[in-house]
Amino acid sequence: MMTARALLLASLVLSCFLLPCYGTVLFSSLQRTLVVTASPTSQQVLEAGVDKITVTWGLNQTLPAGVDSTYKTIKVKLCYAPVSQVDRPWRKTVDLLKKDRTCQHKIAARPYNPANRTSQSVDWTVQRDVPAATYFIRAYAYDADEKEVAYGQTTDAKRTTNLFQVQAISGRHTTIDICSICFSVFSVVSLFGFFYNEKRKAH
Ligand SMILES: *[C@@H]1O[C@H](CO)[C@@H](O)[C@H](O)[C@H]1NC(C)=O
Ligand SMILES: *[C@@H]1O[C@H](CO)[C@@H](O)[C@H](O)[C@H]1NC(C)=O
Repeated sequence: MMTARALLLASLVLSCFLLPCYGTVLFSSLQRTLVVTASPTSQQVLEAGVDKITVTWGLNQTLPAGVDSTYKTIKVKLCYAPVSQVDRPWRKTVDLLKKDRTCQHKIAARPYNPANRTSQSVDWTVQRDVPAATYFIRAYAYDADEKEVAYGQTTDAKRTTNLFQVQAISGRHTTIDICSICFSVFSVVSLFGFFYNEKRKAH
């Protein structure tokens, strides 16, 4: 038993040396080759669960041909601006992408075709679980090994320009939520009341 386990461990360790080890890509090593634009204007306030964002992305056309030869997939994400990361380690920016928490909300994932440099776009409704904060949008290009190889974003390198805000669902929706909770509680209570009455009649 012990030897079997030791063998398994040894082979795991060995395979880590033999196979390419994933998740070691640094953000600072990526080239900014994608041009990403989004519909929100600077400082616009969007309502979670209601408002839509249109994101458009494509290769920067002034770059030499072939720069995108390894791109296989594009993933578009909603990312926290520095102002919304202060004192929140769970949103921290880390250069090692595997540990980076800047871009937590997925907007879209699309195959990339180097033969077709036409810009693509997607309409996305800000999901209700998106917390109120200041955001920008970033797109990553992945290669066939699902490793990040390039990016583009709607803000500058310091992530301070052209940011937009998301606010939580408005009072109107909260009222609807409270009403539905009240109705559920009411129906459970009346169900118990019904059983109680039935029991009393039986006695
Ligand atoms: C496209 O690439 C060129 C050359 O690297 C750069 O000067 C330009 O700012 C880029 N355009 C955009 C919109 O990112
Ligand atoms: C290029 O991509 C766009 C968007 O996906 C698509 O509508 C178009 O048909 C494609 N063109 C070619 C030549 O594949």
